[in-house]
Amino acid sequence: MTDLVAIARSFFAPGKGLLAADESVHTATARLASYGIPTSAEMRRQYRDLFLGAADIERYLSGVILFEETLSQKGNDGKPFPDSLAARGIAPGIKVDEGVEPFPSSPDESITKGLIGLAERLKGYKERGAVFTKWRAVVRIDGDRLPTATALHENAKRLAAYAKEVQAAGLVPILEPEVLLEGGHSRQRARAVIEETLGTLFSVLEEYSVDRAGVILKTAMALSGSGSGKKDTPEEVAEDTVAALLSSVPRQIAGIVFLSGGQTPEQATENLAAIARKALEAEAPWPLTFSYARALQEEALALWKGKEENVASARAAFLKRLDLVSAALHS
Ligand code: 13P
Repeated sequence: MTDLVAIARSFFAPGKGLLAADESVHTATARLASYGIPTSAEMRRQYRDLFLGAADIERYLSGVILFEETLSQKGNDGKPFPDSLAARGIAPGIKVDEGVEPFPSSPDESITKGLIGLAERLKGYKERGAVFTKWRAVVRIDGDRLPTATALHENAKRLAAYAKEVQAAGLVPILEPEVLLEGGHSRQRARAVIEETLGTLFSVLEEYSVDRAGVILKTAMALSGSGSGKKDTPEEVAEDTVAALLSSVPRQIAGIVFLSGGQTPEQATENLAAIARKALEAEAPWPLTFSYARALQEEALALWKGKEENVASARAAFLKRLDLVSAALHS
């Protein structure tokens, strides 16, 4: 377990964070289509190589979360993606949940699948070089109606069972109960839901005797819903996010990473900077960093358009955003 704690802590090296490059085939197809890029296994390989094959990413990235398909694909350098990442000192990780399905007792909410056969799959992922894993649960806000306590509890139990299996397999678990940005809710409501979600999660982790010191939490920021018409200032986001975390996250965990969740790259950068400052001021007990997918990839994808001649400019935009996000950690 000490090794696992050391690996988990290493993700928080100064100025470094994670790239979430673990879009499922379904999500990657939709994402590429939104930039007019047709999809195929080869196009998804090129899409991954655009980011993972970029020079100098090791200055900013301590780890990359991959999707199963990418774990077995090779970059343009002819090496399996996990091997070339590891050779550059970037830990390869893998999304191990199998997506969401409606929660039978409250069908407007979802629960995450993927526990069946997980132990067996973990062995294969480890053999292929993965050192950490991610499991995502989805929490939707609808006024005071959603989320329900039962759905939060069911997702927490599954996150706990996942974390136990992953630690037993000698891998680091990232637990991601994502409170969605979509909705007309206020920032205060988002903060309350984050507190309830994390409060439930950490009490269930204790029941399951998960080793908290080796766990990483991946969370959303406290933001007004995307349909609320309200634009939060970075200071407001930082105030409510750090308060929510301080009231619900045990000091013992290895650290906290943030998802971008549909914020623009600029918002995700400015909000992270304000959160890092607020956490320092509040003497928050855990290290913090980013684990963004969209906010790190968006600008590069818009330039790339699936064309070889645009790779250099797209990679330059990716590196620029990485540099800004990294700088946000200590601004
Ligand atoms: P976003 O940063 O695009 O929210 O993605 C992070 C992630 O890992 C979602 O599961």
